[in-house]
Amino acid sequence: MTNNTRIVLSSDHAAIALRQAIAAHIAERGWTPVDIGPTSPESTHYPQHGEAAARHVASGDCRFGIILCGTGQGIMMAANKVKGIRCGVCADTFSAEMIRAHNDANMLSLGARVLDEAKAIAIVDAFLDAEFEGGRHGTRVDMIRALEA
Ligand code: RB5
Repeated sequence: MTNNTRIVLSSDHAAIALRQAIAAHIAERGWTPVDIGPTSPESTHYPQHGEAAARHVASGDCRFGIILCGTGQGIMMAANKVKGIRCGVCADTFSAEMIRAHNDANMLSLGARVLDEAKAIAIVDAFLDAEFEGGRHGTRVDMIRALEA
C-alpha cells in the first residue's frame, strides 16, 4: 500500500447507500475514506460530484477516487475531463484489476443500478489489490498523458 491511504468517494443521489457501504469497507481494509457526499437523497447532478472527487485525486490529496452514479458512466465521463485522471467504469473484477495493472487508473467508477453491494465491494477490492505493471503499459499511459498536453 502507498503512503497516501486517502481515497475520495463521491456519487450522485442514485448511489448514496452503496457509496457509504464502500467507504465503511475500505476503512476496514486500512484505507482512509474521504467521503465528500452528497448525503441527501435529493436529485443532484453527477458532473459536479465527478469533478469534485477528481480534483482531490489530481491534486495529490487522495491516492485514489471511487465514484458512483446510476450506471457509473456519466460521473466517469466528468471525472475524466480533469487533467491527470484515468477513470474506468467496472462491472467485473477482471476489468477492475486490469485498469490498475495496465492503465494505471487512479479512479474507479461504479453503477449503483448495475451492481449489488457484494459485487461492488469485490470490484473495489480487485482495484485496490492490483498494482500498475509499468513497462509497455507505461509507454501507453504516457501516450494518454500526451493527449492532455
Ligand atoms: C440519474 O438518474 C442517472 O442519470 C445518473 O445516476 C447516471 O446513471 C448517469 O450516468
